[in-house]
Amino acid sequence: FPPSAEFAAAANADASLYQRAAQDREAFWAEQAARLHWHHPFHQVLDWSQPPIAKWFVGGTLNIAYNCLDRHVLDGHGDQIAIHFEGEPGDTRAITYRQLLTETSQAANYLTELGLQPGDRVAIYMPMIPEAVIAMLACARLGLTHSVVFAGFSPTALRQRIDDAGARLVITTDGQWRRGKPHPLKTAVDEALHHTPHTVEHVLVVRRTGTDIPWTPHRDLWWHDTITHAPTHHQPQPFDAEHPLFILYTSGTTGKPKGILHTTGGYLTQTAYTHHTVFDHKPDHDIYWCTADIGWITGHSYIVYGPLANRTTQILYEGTPNHPDEHRHWQIIEKYGVTIYYTAPTLIRTFMKWGKHIPAAHNLTSIRLLGSVGEPINPEAWRWYHENIGANKTPIVDTWWQTETGAIMISPLPGITTTKPGAAMTPLPGISAQIVDEQGNPTPPTNTDTTGYLVLDQPWPAMLRGIWNDPQRYQDTYWHQYREHGWYFAGDGAKLDTDGDLWILGRIDDVMNISGHRISTAEVESALVGHHGVAEAAVVAAHDTTTGQAIVAFVILTTDTPNTGDTLTNELKTQVATHISPIARPREIHIVPELPKTRSGKIMRRLLRDIAEGRQPGDTSTLLDPTILTTIHTNKT
Ligand code: WT7
Repeated sequence: FPPSAEFAAAANADASLYQRAAQDREAFWAEQAARLHWHHPFHQVLDWSQPPIAKWFVGGTLNIAYNCLDRHVLDGHGDQIAIHFEGEPGDTRAITYRQLLTETSQAANYLTELGLQPGDRVAIYMPMIPEAVIAMLACARLGLTHSVVFAGFSPTALRQRIDDAGARLVITTDGQWRRGKPHPLKTAVDEALHHTPHTVEHVLVVRRTGTDIPWTPHRDLWWHDTITHAPTHHQPQPFDAEHPLFILYTSGTTGKPKGILHTTGGYLTQTAYTHHTVFDHKPDHDIYWCTADIGWITGHSYIVYGPLANRTTQILYEGTPNHPDEHRHWQIIEKYGVTIYYTAPTLIRTFMKWGKHIPAAHNLTSIRLLGSVGEPINPEAWRWYHENIGANKTPIVDTWWQTETGAIMISPLPGITTTKPGAAMTPLPGISAQIVDEQGNPTPPTNTDTTGYLVLDQPWPAMLRGIWNDPQRYQDTYWHQYREHGWYFAGDGAKLDTDGDLWILGRIDDVMNISGHRISTAEVESALVGHHGVAEAAVVAAHDTTTGQAIVAFVILTTDTPNTGDTLTNELKTQVATHISPIARPREIHIVPELPKTRSGKIMRRLLRDIAEGRQPGDTSTLLDPTILTTIHTNKT
């Protein structure tokens, strides 16, 4: 699918970008950094003298919130709408850049009054409302490092993240709307902070649902009693380009989430650059909508920082795609004239299930660019998206990146690339990637599904700067595998086809991808064995037509636990959902007498995956007891 001549003629990026970046990478990135306002210019683009510790834009200072707000207001765009908020109960708010600046300044003034100092950590546990964006920007303005925790996460998961980061403040809401009903949220914070000592001094609460909530005097503060009355002017201070901007936790291969650390100058440079080129964003014309939640990296980079740095007018939607009915997204697109729409394959497949008559009932002609992120998009879903949402002509950008990469790395450029359904195509200008085997030799191009490993062989501005509190894990997870080469190991399988285009084939470690969310098998296993009736658990991801992958668990019960069938398996599913989050709820749990293990005692997940997907188990020669598989199979069916 080549871009139309019309699209190509007006596109932000032209083919010379690839050449310029290849000729002089650092000069190219310096040019991209010049899209931002620097209080003090940098004197060196990249310091890579102590890999894998990168320093970008050395000596430069800037303020992120100034770049996202003040600068647009000073440039005469204060009346431009920054956010069209669509609340779940149907309430709406149009917020201009001037208003967003005023409210962010008030929040910054009040957080200063609370005694917070640059470098202090703030946990943000909020639904998709404007105050969540304001809270993030206020932190960025003050050099406070935020840690946004997805509001669907459990109190246990929240507490783990508060403790690891040592947060002094938690910002939350009384409750959140879900399918027309208010659900408590602040009570989860209370539960997280119950009893045992913690670092939190205050809990700042936005009233969203009006639900009655328990209150801890002195510790708890209402947003509307404090921030709303704070002075509306705030003078931003510049911070070093490497000042910590945020921590965002993501699943690794062990049960303990990793606090991915991002800093200031490189992160904003690459998020703004990619938002400008990959989405072909035009600040005076486009209405942009990224459907992610701010609790994930996509929300950080492509709702908050990249778009606001580029003076975007965007939609912020609090609700779900099917409440009150399945027309919700198309109604919103029609109502606001959305021109750029960025979502995930799992949602596209859900739309496919609901039927094409639903989008067909709406005028979607405003759309001029579609994006996809979170997991490989299967060609059928790509074609459906192209035909039914993109009127057979809108370019689709399939964007590969990770929490760790901070910004898009591999993607078509919409005015340049001839796209192929299912392929992420090529690294962006300024980004370098290779597909290699275990030894680091490039794998030959292939049109089969032979997997190589995706590595990033050059540092990039928005790269993670480490794992919070765990420098060793940073080395081990990403830089150990190809240490002689000094390459970043992404954890994804990939291949180049015979045209030289890149396909991402999915995770090759014990990380599952459920509806575009990363969950490790170890996390779910530890939630299961936390139940008194479970002696041992093994978790695998099986193919699922909607969520991409679904969790299938095999558990061995303790001897005194009666197998009550569905009663027990439902209880176990709930245990996982409440311990981690509803996203981690297993699709199936099978109670089995044994697990397939090698002689050294390692669980052979590959064989369990075969069983979960209904295949004949593959090579069983290394199994201690091959008859176990027959037993498991019989138990499963
Ligand atoms: C993992 C990162 C980046 C924002 C959302 C997820 C998978 C992501 C694609 C894509 C194939 C993709 C990879 C990656 N992934 N985008 N376009 N094609 N796979 O962020 O939670 O950090 O997960 O998501 O497996 O490693 P994340």
